[in-house]
Amino acid sequence: VRRLGVLTSGGDCAGLNAVIRAVTYRAVRSYGWKVFGIIDGTMGLMERPLRYRELDLDMFSGNMLREGGTFLGTVNRGDPFNYPMPDGSHKDRSLDFVDGFNKLALDALIVIGGDGSMKILSQLCDLGGIGMVGVPKTIDNDVHGTDFAVGFTTAVNVVTEALDRLHPTAASHHRVMILEVMGRDAGHIAVNAAISGGADVALVPELPYRLDSIARKIEEVIREGRNHALIVVAEGCKTEDGTPATVAHSHGQMRYGGIGAYLSDKIAAMTELETRVTTLGHVQRGGTPSTRDRLLASAFGVHAVDMVAEGKLGRMVAWQERGVTDVPLEEVCIGPRSLETEGTLIKVARGLGIYVGEPQP
Ligand code: F6P
Repeated sequence: VRRLGVLTSGGDCAGLNAVIRAVTYRAVRSYGWKVFGIIDGTMGLMERPLRYRELDLDMFSGNMLREGGTFLGTVNRGDPFNYPMPDGSHKDRSLDFVDGFNKLALDALIVIGGDGSMKILSQLCDLGGIGMVGVPKTIDNDVHGTDFAVGFTTAVNVVTEALDRLHPTAASHHRVMILEVMGRDAGHIAVNAAISGGADVALVPELPYRLDSIARKIEEVIREGRNHALIVVAEGCKTEDGTPATVAHSHGQMRYGGIGAYLSDKIAAMTELETRVTTLGHVQRGGTPSTRDRLLASAFGVHAVDMVAEGKLGRMVAWQERGVTDVPLEEVCIGPRSLETEGTLIKVARGLGIYVGEPQP
């Protein structure tokens, strides 16, 4: 009987529990293996006593497929290779993780994570000779090698619904509504939702923009007979001259925010229209997963366990060309995947007359 570990790492999103469920169903029902859920990501294997729970079929008799978040937890107190200690110093604790894996006598580890987690976990697994299979998840959809990561379409649905709700209030008050959305340095959420939610402007970090072009777009919309406009801006966008809008720090990591407020002031001054800002924040991460995310999570979970069974390790499951497949981790761990500035979505947005920034030089 093989012993399989599964953990969630990095920011949560909708569909994580659905992946854990699919992994457990496949491993227990089809192969008769034991599955161990590691609590709080890498922390569960680094701390002593080890923190984990054996996952059995009973646990999934309730609502797991539908529940947002991750019931295993995903706490990040720092990079295990450079772990922050209470006295302010840093220590390499990577061997604690490897030792934890060995103490639990696991045969392989399924890591559900985004691009950052995939990189750190693959380094940890290489160090310990641990067989790893990755499952991509992130609302940002910026993982290389896969068309979709778990959690993305749910987040796009949330943003689209926000635009649906902002539209009538914008119309009632003749206002420009600015919606700041997540995505880190990528504009996947922003452009997908801007198209689906009928926005007039979609600003993404991958393309420079001009404030006067935004003002012209709003004037055009008003000339066409509308009394309001909707703007979606990705949190990773900078001010017009390329400086960060505001940068806060949390757990030593760079955080975003503030670009919506910046645009609001500028646009109000340039167009004499009233502006209002909504920052959606972590609302985009919670809630029940979309149908698409449930399907993806289920397909990924089953495929990941099959890969372990076949000894196909050091790879990440992926969705490409209408099906589930897998790619080597080296091809994934090369940093975040940006939105293609000449891709279909930018073309569709431009085709609809949405201002998505200036063409690249
Ligand atoms: O990567 C997912 C994400 O939600 C980003 O879109 C966002 O910038 C970041 O995580 C927020 O991180 P935290 O949960 O640490 O505030």
